[in-house]
Amino acid sequence: MKDNYNRNIDYLRISVIDRCNLRCIYCMPEEGISNLLPHSEILTYEEILKIVQIGVDLGIRKIRITGGEPLLRRGIVNFIENLSKIEEINDIGLTTNGVLLKSFAKDLYKAGLKRVNVSLDSLSEDKFRYITRIGNLKDVLEGVEEAYSLGLKPVKINVVVMRGINDDEILNFALWSKEVEYQIRFIEFMPIGPNSWRKELFISKDDIKRIIEKEFGKLIPVSMKKSGPAEYFILEGAKGLLGFISPLTSHICVRCNRLRLTAEGKLRPCLFSDKEVDLKQILRSGASEEILKEKIINTILQKPQGMAERPQRPMSTIGG
Ligand code: 5AD
Ligand code: SF4
Repeated sequence: MKDNYNRNIDYLRISVIDRCNLRCIYCMPEEGISNLLPHSEILTYEEILKIVQIGVDLGIRKIRITGGEPLLRRGIVNFIENLSKIEEINDIGLTTNGVLLKSFAKDLYKAGLKRVNVSLDSLSEDKFRYITRIGNLKDVLEGVEEAYSLGLKPVKINVVVMRGINDDEILNFALWSKEVEYQIRFIEFMPIGPNSWRKELFISKDDIKRIIEKEFGKLIPVSMKKSGPAEYFILEGAKGLLGFISPLTSHICVRCNRLRLTAEGKLRPCLFSDKEVDLKQILRSGASEEILKEKIINTILQKPQGMAERPQRPMSTIGG
């Protein structure tokens, strides 16, 4: 369905859990999020599937499962299997921190998952530990390899770049793209929730590109049919691609095709707005599907043209 700015909304991102097994410094405080949702406040899989089915009637064709860390939710494989039975959905992806990916990859693949995006902000063990506070780089790399070898492709790697924290790794990632067939995407650090965003930590897409080109020569543009918000390039002779997601320095909103469903059933028309529509309350009040459908249509029509405000919730509770 089209929104008020002629954008075709066909993509739903579903956060299935607000918990995470890492504590990335840019996302969470060290002690974790204090007001985690009680179990009963989290949508059941049945409830999510009901929303998806209505979404599909309205034109949703692509789903991404996020969290927190979605692989922490019990029954996730079975849920993905049920999603993949919905004929109209032609793309199901999962965004994960990769910690549990190695053990889940095969079952996810069998359940009908098409591909994974793995958040990975450092290729050095110590730096990775510093950024995630508790993670082991090796677990994530093994998970990525397993996903790739099973054919969960393309494997996308998301790197949030922060000046003075991991900008010294931009070249490591660029070099990695020569060796592996992944899509390595540099993401501009966004001010979301009560996170540690400061202007001094921000580094723009253009700056990141300059750093790469100075060392490796020209980045050759690669045009992709469905690249979403990312712009892609390749280095001469490389196997993988380098991508850039620059919400703060490019006009990505004009092509935005997504809605977000939070773990507790709030439908958000935009990451950069705290507008939310409570679908759980409607679902649990026993209202008819028609009413639910109307609410979803309403949310789509509330999608702002561009970024309206800094979101107050942490990213882990909105769903990447
Ligand atoms: N800015 C940019 N990216 C972020 N992510 C989480 N918080 C931020 C932020 N403030 C990333 C995660 C993950 C994706 C879903 O969003 O690293 O890759
Ligand atoms: Fe977890 Fe992702 Fe937040 Fe890191 S960024 S703490 S992996 S939700």
